[in-house]
Amino acid sequence: MKKDTLTIKDNSTGKSIELPVRRGTLGPPVVDITRFYREMGFFTFDPGFLSTASCRSGITYIDGDDGVLLYRGYPIEQLAEKSTFIEVAYLMLYGDLPNAKQMDTFSHLIRTHTMINESLKSFYNGFYHDAHPMAVMVGVFGSLSAFYHDSLDIRDADHRDLAALRMIAKMPTIAAASYKHSVGEPFVYPKNSLGYCGNLLHMMFSVPSEDYEIDPIAERALDLIFILHADHEQNASTSTVRLAGSSSANPFACVSSGITALWGPAHGGANEAVLNMLEEIGDAKNISTYLDKAKDKNDSFRLMGFGHRIYREYDPRAKIIREMCHEVLKKLGNENDPFFELALKLEDVALNDDYFKERSLYPNVDFYSGIIYRVLGIPTNMFTVMFAVARTVGWVAQWMEMISDPDQRIARPRQIYEGAGIRDYVPLDKRNSDT
Ligand code: CMC
Repeated sequence: MKKDTLTIKDNSTGKSIELPVRRGTLGPPVVDITRFYREMGFFTFDPGFLSTASCRSGITYIDGDDGVLLYRGYPIEQLAEKSTFIEVAYLMLYGDLPNAKQMDTFSHLIRTHTMINESLKSFYNGFYHDAHPMAVMVGVFGSLSAFYHDSLDIRDADHRDLAALRMIAKMPTIAAASYKHSVGEPFVYPKNSLGYCGNLLHMMFSVPSEDYEIDPIAERALDLIFILHADHEQNASTSTVRLAGSSSANPFACVSSGITALWGPAHGGANEAVLNMLEEIGDAKNISTYLDKAKDKNDSFRLMGFGHRIYREYDPRAKIIREMCHEVLKKLGNENDPFFELALKLEDVALNDDYFKERSLYPNVDFYSGIIYRVLGIPTNMFTVMFAVARTVGWVAQWMEMISDPDQRIARPRQIYEGAGIRDYVPLDKRNSDT
């Protein structure tokens, strides 16, 4: 018989509480502590949420010990092999794989919401050409709420659906424009006859004066990477979207806050950091020096693209991307890509090193993704933007789920206050002038 309560006793007072234990479909049991403070007078302390579930969700499941990742129950390996990013987007948003008619309608809706309000284009000109594209993304995406007033009522399901479609459909257009601005080329309008990733490549790399042909290998590679990046449970950026959304902020503002959180090098910014790191290492003969730096507690250097809060095994996404690197580089004729060779050697040395073994540090999704982006011609400062385009699907699905959850309340964590105790105000002329 499953134990579905957990009793906690305060030995100093003898008072105890029986807390309900919730069980999801998969994963460890979860103690429901919502009554804990009210009845026992204690807060719980868990910086970084190491042991805290912040919500209920039916979208993504991760088993970090066994390296398992499921979207709506489907193993990531199967989706990577058999699905497409747009089908995965439907799955994320609506819970099941679409039938042919649903797929057709959904693809059509995404394709026909790709344009952005023409006035938004002038926002880009407010940024200097060397602005980081992620900075531009945060600003431009956040401003969508100033344009699309007919999808801002979060209590109206039709508004929510329309906002969801708009965010997913317009994200590649906004991303490509941030690239075009950085290289001083004219913006390219979306072409709705193209697929999601083909359109992104078209808007990034075509110019009005030349014909541009989309390379099907590049398009499929991008689609596959986007599937792998579509969602990842309650990570920092997704939790940021949910936290912002819990105050009933509009979805465009919430997703913009997610882009901001994603930018950090401990999260989505790691893909850019990996390439910069490989460039800095430069040659296999320098690997041991950099590994020593990563192990040195007095050095802030970390092996970027290594380690994960949840995975204590190889990140299943990294496994798929590593295989994909072999395939894509071979097809594009770059089989001996020096960055890929260096990354493989670095992985090999790190995985045989006691420091990394003892801490179960394996390559994560960001370790190899930049190598593919690079051979597709995507500049390093656009890597995290690519991640943001794919993750928009997850942010939107998680936001939609949160809004419809009857348990949803404004998120309001507590703290351990360690500041000064209560004290009286001292007028300026009475304060100690020596300090
Ligand atoms: N290089 C060297 N040491 C590391 C690394 C690393 N990349 N990652 C973790 N460690 C060590 C860390 O110093 C600590 O050692 P000790 O126990 O001796 O103090 C131990 O491993 C546990 O690390 P932690 O920082 O407590 O773990 P965390 O769960 O708080 O952090 C992480 C997870 C992903 C932020 C971290 O592993 C890291 O900074 N990795 C490099 C950045 C990176 O690749 N981020 C992408 C994450 S996956 C994609 C995404 O989320 O967007």
